Amino acid sequence: MSREHGWLDVAERIARDAGAVLRDFVGAELNVARKGAVDLVTEADRRAEARIVAAIRDVYPNHAILAEEGGGSAVAGAEATWVVDPLDGTTNFAHGVPIWCVSIGVVVEGEPVVGVVYDPSRDECFAARRGDRATLNGTPISVSRPTRLDDALLVTGFPYDVRTSPVNNADHFENFLRSAQGVRRLGSAALDLCYVAAGRFDGFWELKLHPWDVAAGGLVVTCAGGVVSDFAGGPWDVFGSETVACSRELLPDMLAVLSRGRRP
Ligand code: IPD
Ligand code: CA
Ligand code: CA
Repeated sequence: MSREHGWLDVAERIARDAGAVLRDFVGAELNVARKGAVDLVTEADRRAEARIVAAIRDVYPNHAILAEEGGGSAVAGAEATWVVDPLDGTTNFAHGVPIWCVSIGVVVEGEPVVGVVYDPSRDECFAARRGDRATLNGTPISVSRPTRLDDALLVTGFPYDVRTSPVNNADHFENFLRSAQGVRRLGSAALDLCYVAAGRFDGFWELKLHPWDVAAGGLVVTCAGGVVSDFAGGPWDVFGSETVACSRELLPDMLAVLSRGRRP
């Protein structure tokens, strides 16, 4: 078994375990704090992150961990970095909307090699290992193949500085509304990407995302036959600030619309 097979098994076990931690908070009174004007963090985010970080350290004490709520740690010369969003979709979670997930990616030399996105509300586990077909609960998945934007259902999200920055995706949103079949905003970038991978959505774009939002889901898209890039069609950078994901066929049309709006 390759090292990445082992990492994938561990990532899936940990994501499911963290999902159970989060599920226990559903329906309970939540302690919600604000990280910014519209950016929330709950006790559930912190508890799930603590569980994930402890589990990774237990198995891979020499690996680095980059986790959204700050519980990770750098390790000089680490073979791999685990990139963790313990709860992607916190705003939904805090409002009782069942669209949120746990996202765990493993990155080596800047490239995601393993990704797991687990949705406890639907018991859906999206998984990918570089070089293998992406799966949903063990069954291979593929991106859709619409050839025209006119037939495409897209999904996006907005950055937390939406109220104060002019580079806030409102222009791209309007442009796509006028050119695609439809546009949705679910509130979980990791699930958005996995839904593109599974062919539920035809395309996704967003700006100012963080590595923990995209590391796992972006790999799931590429391993489902899709493409992930920046807004100019350049190579996807997990640490970059632009993400577009769709089939290779749809990419030129998506990029043409994105070229008409603001870039970070
Ligand atoms: C957010 C979600 C949302 C996206 C935001 C993210 P969080 O993550 O993925 O869909 O639009 O940009 O920050 O804060 O719920 O982990
Ligand atoms: Ca997130
Ligand atoms: Ca989060």
